[in-house]
Amino acid sequence: MNDDVPSQPPFNVTTPTPARIYDYYLGGKDNFPADREAGEKVMRVFPQAPELALANRGFLLRAVRYCADAGIDQFIDLGTGIPTSPNVAEIACAFNPRARVIGVDNDPVVLSHQRAHASSVSGGYTIVEGDVRRPWAILADSRLNEVIDLSRPVAVLCVAVLHFVPDAEDPAGILGAFTDTITAGSYLAVSAVTSTDTDPAVVTQIEDAYKNASAPLIFRTADQILSWFGPSLDLVHPGLLDVSQWPTGIGIPTDVRILGGVARKRRRVHPPGA
Ligand SMILES: C[S@@+](CC[C@H](N)C(=O)[O-])C[C@H]1O[C@@H](n2cnc3c(N)ncnc32)[C@H](O)[C@@H]1O
Repeated sequence: MNDDVPSQPPFNVTTPTPARIYDYYLGGKDNFPADREAGEKVMRVFPQAPELALANRGFLLRAVRYCADAGIDQFIDLGTGIPTSPNVAEIACAFNPRARVIGVDNDPVVLSHQRAHASSVSGGYTIVEGDVRRPWAILADSRLNEVIDLSRPVAVLCVAVLHFVPDAEDPAGILGAFTDTITAGSYLAVSAVTSTDTDPAVVTQIEDAYKNASAPLIFRTADQILSWFGPSLDLVHPGLLDVSQWPTGIGIPTDVRILGGVARKRRRVHPPGA
């Protein structure tokens, strides 16, 4: 993790982007031929890509419901994506109409659609430009701090984002910056593609389909993803699971898998006599 990471390239229809390829899987209209070409390349070796994208959205929304049910009314949605419905703000506000959601993304298409979306809904949702590879800049953002009170519990959502961040940019350190900052009783939800129990030839071909995109797609083992949850966090039941199966254990796994989990920041326990 460092502050010198290259900025997201400006809007360019010929370079596929993770947000627009995902939009294509989800049946959206905010994608271009280069995005569709990359998506088709993935679907040739993994035809269930749209199902997996939908399952990941399902995980995101169930994680929001879980946190809202636990009393969380403020959410930081990292890598928020192109607007779709239902979304984080709709679920959070259904639980608590005063809930606040801040979306963060570095893709110009996401930012322009989310700005239009934020101005068309009444309160609740704000979008800011930010790059997860610069977590401290996100946490210091004045608009984020107008909306989110970091002295109160918050849910940080980092769903289907860190697999676009290479190891050299320290995904664990990125999450560490957020978990060190949030207060006890806060939650962190994470999902990422895994190489565990996946055909290595398929992994290689999918990574290859993203090689000309604005960010690479990187598969991690289940243990690597688990290690991103730092020592101050307790994974809530049932732990890290296929996104389609979280949290009930019921769901149809796909040949390529995204694992998801939700963790709660522990209260600091002082040893007796300390
Ligand atoms: C696959 S989409 C996931 C969208 C949403 N989180 C979900 O799970 O449905 C990944 C999103 O992460 C964003 N993203 C990728 N790398 C990022 C980075 N370094 N900083 C901020 N956003 C990033 C992309 O622009 C895209 O909107």
